[in-house]
Amino acid sequence: MASRATSSDQPMKPLHQTADHASHPLRIRLRLWRNRLLASPGFRNAIARTPLLRAIANRKANDLFRLTGGFIFSQVLLAGVRLGLYETLAPGPLSSGQLAARLGLDEGRMKILLRANADLGLLMEASPDLWLLDDAGVILASDRGLAGMIRHHEMLYRDLTDPDQMLRTRETDTELRRYWSYVREARPDSLGADEVADYSVLMRESQAMMASCILASHDFARVRVLLDVGGGEGAFLAAAAAAHPSLEIRLFDLPAVTDRARDHLDSLGFGQRTQVHGGDFTRDRIPDDADCVTLVRVLCDHDDARVAAILANLHRSLRPGTRLIVAEAMNGRAEGARLASAYFGIYFLAMGSGRCRSDAEIAALLWAAGFAGVKTVATPNPLIATLVTAVR
Ligand SMILES: C[S@@+](CC[C@H](N)C(=O)[O-])C[C@H]1O[C@@H](n2cnc3c(N)ncnc32)[C@H](O)[C@@H]1O
Repeated sequence: MASRATSSDQPMKPLHQTADHASHPLRIRLRLWRNRLLASPGFRNAIARTPLLRAIANRKANDLFRLTGGFIFSQVLLAGVRLGLYETLAPGPLSSGQLAARLGLDEGRMKILLRANADLGLLMEASPDLWLLDDAGVILASDRGLAGMIRHHEMLYRDLTDPDQMLRTRETDTELRRYWSYVREARPDSLGADEVADYSVLMRESQAMMASCILASHDFARVRVLLDVGGGEGAFLAAAAAAHPSLEIRLFDLPAVTDRARDHLDSLGFGQRTQVHGGDFTRDRIPDDADCVTLVRVLCDHDDARVAAILANLHRSLRPGTRLIVAEAMNGRAEGARLASAYFGIYFLAMGSGRCRSDAEIAALLWAAGFAGVKTVATPNPLIATLVTAVR
């Protein structure tokens, strides 16, 4: 393998030897002064001896360690999901011996996994060697979508084995890019059933939190016909239809996905209220009888040029006055929005398409496509989604 410069090849340059910063604004000069202090071991030792400052420093050290050990922590989660640890503990507490027997592990190894889970806040040891779910463990046991997302990280982590190399080159053959088959195809409408099945199941199973965020943030009571473009198997539409019994629903997606959507919506008893249309949302005519159109976790998958094509096609197809709602994780100031942005920034890099945009960037794309009245709508959880609404 070609040799590459790594941090250990480069002597660390003390911060105080960097260029003259006198021309920077005061805010930046203050931050640089603070950074120089922090980089000094003597200053850090002084902080460690000062009780209040020590608590702040320890919290920051813990945060940094969370990042340093992040891969291990997420493998603890993966092991728990794969072994069925959280579902096994859902009905009630068990001892390490009982868990080891049920999950087929040696008891000593089981204890290591249980201790790590308890240390990370997924389980609790209610009394000596009696284990039960902590809050996060309850969510893992009950949310199939979350478990599905954790399992699909196996691919992402293989793609990210060499992250600096991924940043240097534009990798076109990642596992994630193969998984999200529509991003690699010039004609995604020709994808077959096998090529869309895995991501469609993952999207359906992981829709619950997204749907409740959207339904809590926009009033669908006055919507007569709701069209979900790139609607997958119809999980969002099913949630909207269940909440609003007189709502007519329409779904547009790739032909191989709409076959699945039809079956799914029929199986839930929504067949009478549903119309499903297959095609390519960048070029095929989109039905125009809806008064509200949603794009849920769709734009983030695509680079700006393809987003412009999707929005231009929607603008051409929809009737004036139709409301458009873009719902996805967006970059923003809230902690959840920043977490989502850091996560998806790297995720979409590995996928080779798309990016996590801010509401302002999405608004600019909507204005450029000719939409009017563009507004940001906060949701209860910016980690999951923010909405940007507009009018055709
Ligand atoms: C990330 S998934 C989101 C699915 C759903 N909206 C959700 O939130 O669960 C993106 C969806 O866009 C669809 N899609 C991708 N490219 C498309 C295209 N060119 N035309 C129509 N649908 C497309 C995919 O099949 C997939 O269902």
